[in-house]
Amino acid sequence: MNDITIRQAKPDDAADLNRALGQLSADMGDEHRASDADIVRFCFGPAPVFQALLAEAADGSIVGVAAYSPFFSTVSGSVGIYVSDLWVAEQTRGQRLGQRLLAAVREAGMEAWDAGFIRLNVYHDNPKALAFYERLGFVHYSETQYMTLAGTAYDALGEQA
Ligand SMILES: CC(C)(COP(=O)(O)OP(=O)(O)OC[C@H]1O[C@@H](n2cnc3c(N)ncnc32)[C@H](O)[C@@H]1OP(=O)(O)O)[C@@H](O)C(=O)NCCC(=O)NCCS
Repeated sequence: MNDITIRQAKPDDAADLNRALGQLSADMGDEHRASDADIVRFCFGPAPVFQALLAEAADGSIVGVAAYSPFFSTVSGSVGIYVSDLWVAEQTRGQRLGQRLLAAVREAGMEAWDAGFIRLNVYHDNPKALAFYERLGFVHYSETQYMTLAGTAYDALGEQA
């Protein structure tokens, strides 16, 4: 485990980063529509919208990833870090790499934005991940719910502008 290094993803890593994110999608049973070009544009382009940390084994293989973005909360008066993706390769799970990745996200977020908390979403049918987050102290806020505007409803809103 100690020979696994966590580092910031750089433009050269775009394909490896997308492969790791694709593994997460596959493990979750989700579609994975992001192309390598999307990763280049949205992680490393002129107006990046997320950053990523990679966990690299001694042989250079990628065994973990965390993708994250900042947001500002007026309620807390501080920046939160939204972790959009967290994944550890199956053979490496249960060795605290997920915890190390989140600790590295926290460090990076504090350094870049003086971030004060982490937020993420987890599927109801992912009890192992839920247990992992709860062990770290993540709390579920039942008074809020995740809402998305997409597809024709998203387009229709544009017609109101
Ligand atoms: C959830 C995940 C990121 C945790 O990373 P990890 O390196 O295995 O986690 P850690 O070693 O730091 O912590 C282990 C804890 O995670 C939980 N866990 C989740 N999935 C696990 C797995 N497949 N194997 C072992 N532990 C797992 C257990 O509660 C375990 O707690 P314990 O050691 O007290 O039994 C990782 O298991 C993973 O990538 N799972 C598949 C993808 C996923 O669910 N991502 C989160 C989406 S919201």
